[in-house]
Amino acid sequence: MKKTGSILLVILLAFSCLISALADETVPSIKEAYAGKFDFGAAVPQSALSDGRLTKLILKHFSILTPENELKPDAVLDISRCREQAKEDETAVAVHFGSARPLLDFAKENGIKVHGHVLVWHSQTPKAFFHEGYDTANPMVSREVMLARMENYIREVMTWTNDRYPGVIVSWDVVNEAIDDQSKWLRKSSNWYKTIGEDYVARAFEYARKYAPEGTLLYYNDYNTANGGKLSGITRLLEQLIPEGNIDGYGFQMHHNLLDPGISLITKAVDSIAALGLRLRVSELDIGVKNPTERDLQKQKERYKAIMQLMLRYSDQTEAVQVWGLTDNMSWRTGENPLLFDKSRNPKPAFYGVIEAAKEAAAEEAAAGENGLP
Ligand code: GLA
Repeated sequence: MKKTGSILLVILLAFSCLISALADETVPSIKEAYAGKFDFGAAVPQSALSDGRLTKLILKHFSILTPENELKPDAVLDISRCREQAKEDETAVAVHFGSARPLLDFAKENGIKVHGHVLVWHSQTPKAFFHEGYDTANPMVSREVMLARMENYIREVMTWTNDRYPGVIVSWDVVNEAIDDQSKWLRKSSNWYKTIGEDYVARAFEYARKYAPEGTLLYYNDYNTANGGKLSGITRLLEQLIPEGNIDGYGFQMHHNLLDPGISLITKAVDSIAALGLRLRVSELDIGVKNPTERDLQKQKERYKAIMQLMLRYSDQTEAVQVWGLTDNMSWRTGENPLLFDKSRNPKPAFYGVIEAAKEAAAEEAAAGENGLP
């Protein structure tokens, strides 16, 4: 009896594995749905790379990845070594990439592109970086020293990544979130602003261009772009940067809620940045909804779909759309169910919204082709 029971159990287990494998096969791949249009990607925490179920999900759906935290300055700067070196040279910068390596290795081995995030940001950057001797007990460094540290940091990052992972990092967020939500102009509380002044954004792009391998796309990245006042500040900044010839594109973070901002405001923001002639990317897409009903999940699907339709309208200018995380329980907004896959890695209605947008666009193109339209 006991033996028959365990045989039955084994058969049942095998059957359920087969069912879930078959279910996996019937789920379409997002990157394939968008092939020929633009890359579709995700931010990935280092922990995901040691979970085979998540790496399978990544390989199936995403053609570009961003390390969620591992290329931010607080992960890359080696402050104790900086301190040592500062005894001889205040401008010297020491870096280490232990936490970024697993994702860069994974991307290299599997032929997946990486978007680098981020070189210059007011947040997740050690305060000591801005102080004499790399010690917050000392005064902040002069503009000249900080410019030299910025240049050295950017050179070290570009050189190390390009030497070991040539061709893997195709683009970078050079500066993140420089515009202040209140003043709609440069965030004066940023240590970059305090030490270097108004032109720190332009200088970051100048150095990034100087050291980036040829063909690397350089982005300014920000949130709340659909907020009218902030949009005008962001536009003003981009208009100052464009003539210097070092910026390639703009990254819309798009950490949204179900209905906020409205799609007309999002459209207006994308239309006006696109009109500047820059490359576009949606860099950090997620759409939060707490305790969702079935209806909310449908609305979330419609909102994802509308954003994808908008970016498909700009497919000639768009390099990538990236969601900020893999599954709802691994998101920085966990509790708001903001992503395409639930905690068991099952595709949500939102996932099918992303797929539908691509399929409908392809069908429209095919129909236009048959009618001899361009
Ligand atoms: C911003 C940053 C991201 C990430 C999110 C929240 O959008 O650009 O790197 O930190 O906040 O996690």
